[in-house]
Amino acid sequence: MTDFDIRAATPADADFLVDMLVEAVNWQPERDWPRERILADPALAHYVAGWMGPTDIGVVAVDPAHRPLGAAWFRHLSAEDPGYGYVADDVPELTIGVRPAWRGRGVGRALLRAVLDAARQRGIRTVSLSVERANAAARLYASEGFRTVESFENADTMIAEVGA
Ligand SMILES: CC(C)(COP(=O)(O)OP(=O)(O)OC[C@H]1O[C@@H](n2cnc3c(N)ncnc32)[C@H](O)[C@@H]1OP(=O)(O)O)[C@@H](O)C(=O)NCCC(=O)NCCS
Repeated sequence: MTDFDIRAATPADADFLVDMLVEAVNWQPERDWPRERILADPALAHYVAGWMGPTDIGVVAVDPAHRPLGAAWFRHLSAEDPGYGYVADDVPELTIGVRPAWRGRGVGRALLRAVLDAARQRGIRTVSLSVERANAAARLYASEGFRTVESFENADTMIAEVGA
């Protein structure tokens, strides 16, 4: 068993969440967009801007020395400023990323389960995400209960019911 823990995200995790947003955007190594470009793009920066707000829900995976190695979070975006996986104002959207050296060891699945639990505890009923169809992360999402509700040229919007 790989040695990591999962804790609730805090406002102090803002910079690390940017790191993980960069990983999520650059899931294809060929993309390699720099952090500055991602933060300058309003359609991407709104996944982390002003972290952490009152309706944000997040978890961070840490190694035994408490160094962060992955994060998953839900953010409520609105019809006026929708995310790629926007469904409705009361359906928060997922972002998830794991540091490359830690991938394939169960961290992503553990983060996803933990953030879904956290959403359930906050009374959220439905959550969404956007995933580019070629990304193997889509298999993780499907195996944890997400289903595709809308398809675009390269990406699918998926939702999961988390309500108790
Ligand atoms: C997607 C991501 C968060 C998964 O985290 P992880 O720690 O590697 O995932 P796990 O080890 O828990 O694996 C869970 C499942 O993910 C799937 N998976 C994710 N990436 C995969 C890859 N590159 N190759 C094969 N399977 C992959 C598998 O179905 C795997 O299930 P299995 O263990 O039963 O085979 C991580 O790979 C990552 O950060 N990728 C880049 C960022 C990204 O794509 N974010 C999502 C954008 S929508």
